[in-house]
Formats: sequence, C-alpha cells, structure tokens
Amino acid sequence: MATVYAVGVGPGDPELLTRKAERILRSADVILAPVSNLAEASVALGTIREFIDEGRQEIIVHQFPMTSDRTLLIPAWQGAAELIAAHAEAGRSVAFITIGDPLFYSTFIYLLRLLREQWPQIAIEIIPGISSINAAASEASLPLVEGDEKMVVIPATAGIGQIKTALETYETVVLLKVKPVFPAILELLSAAGRETSTVFVERVGSPRQKVFTDFSEIAAHSPDYLSLLIIKRSP
Ligand SMILES: C[S@@+](CC[C@H](N)C(=O)[O-])C[C@H]1O[C@@H](n2cnc3c(N)ncnc32)[C@H](O)[C@@H]1O
Repeated sequence: MATVYAVGVGPGDPELLTRKAERILRSADVILAPVSNLAEASVALGTIREFIDEGRQEIIVHQFPMTSDRTLLIPAWQGAAELIAAHAEAGRSVAFITIGDPLFYSTFIYLLRLLREQWPQIAIEIIPGISSINAAASEASLPLVEGDEKMVVIPATAGIGQIKTALETYETVVLLKVKPVFPAILELLSAAGRETSTVFVERVGSPRQKVFTDFSEIAAHSPDYLSLLIIKRSP
C-alpha cells in the first residue's frame, strides 16, 4: 500500500513551492491534477512542470466542474477518490496537487473525507502550500494584520450582506472568488468609503499577475477567477 499525498503548490510561481513539496512531486508515481474544464490547462500542473518527469511518472488530469450543483460534483469527487485509492492499493504513490494550500478552500478537502470514510487503511500526508492570500499581500507589500487586529476571509459568493457586515467588524477583509459579483462588491466598497484602502490581486505568482491599488483601475478591470481583494479599514 502506497501513501497518498496532497501537495500544496502555492499560488503559481514554481519558486514558491516548499522543498518538501518538490521532493514528493519528484518521487510520486502518479500526479493527479484538478481542472474545472478539460479544454483549459491545469494551473497547478503548470506550476510544477519542471519538477516532474512525464516519461517516468503518470500524469492524470481529472475534471471537477466549477458548479455548486452537488449532483455533478459528488460523482467527480467519488471518481477521483476511487482513482487515487486504486493506485495507492496497487502500491503506487499518488500526489494530488492543489493551488495554494490543500486545506484552504480546496477540492482536496472533499477527497480527504471520502478517502478517510471509504479507504481508512490508506495513509494520507498533507503538504501545506503558500496560499494566494499570503502571496498577494507580499506582492502588494501590504501587512495583513498586526497587533490586536482581526481578519476575515469570505468567498464573495457568500453574498454582499455578509461582506458589508465583515467590513464593519474586521480591520482586514479578504474576498476570494470575486469574479461573479465584482460590480456589486465595488459598489459596496465605494459606499463604505474604502476606495483608498482596497487592493486587487489577480494570478499572483504567475507571468499574468496584476496588482492594482488605484480604485479606478480596479473598477475598469474585468477580473478572472484567480482574483482576490484585500480591504483594510484605513489606507
Ligand atoms: C477555491 S479557492 C482556492 C484557494 C487556494 N487553495 C489557496 O490556498 O490560495 C480559489 C480562489 O482563491 C483565490 N486565488 C487562488 N489562486 C490565486 C492567485 N494565483 N491569484 C489570486 N487569487 C487566487 C481566488 O480568489 C480564487 O477565486
């Protein structure tokens, strides 16, 4: 029986992988990369290309549709868990790669539950990764929190009402998954007087990285899925 690894590959810059992640990726028999759309490249796989050997290692790209419809998601999770378990039981180590950290809003969390429930005999090791939030704060040279300050992370899809309450409660608010509700967020930030204390970061760690602090520049931009906002109480 081989080990299953969940490897956080960081936000997209190969230099932001840990040494442990690199070691495991070089030695795993099977690399499993998630994609939401089979026509698009896996960001996680693109990040680790230089560490793997496609002649020696088996690379599997598995689709997890980008939807909240559980009738579509559950079969995708179950299929991936069965694939991982079959390889591990046949003695092949598997590295499931995930952008950022594997236990932070990641598909791996669902796989972890299924593997623990259905294949409790399989050993699972989790390798943490640098999350997009830490990488974004570094690129923007923006302290996230200091002293007694408090921070909250909200998937913006949770709703504008929750974001409004968070802005009133916390010194730092980080919004992930901003793309589907971007205009409504910007309207709220203007009304709350946060134009000069908002930072937008897209595709951090990649050649397509964008960091905007100017609110008119943020408002003129059409974000992609890998975008986030960090909003401070004061500039
Ligand atoms: C499903 S969560 C994955 C979070 C990831 N596990 C992490 O630790 O950063 C996806 C959201 O994370 C943010 N994100 C992930 N990678 C990013 C990147 N390279 N640049 C900016 N935001 C990113 C975006 O808000 C995106 O909608």
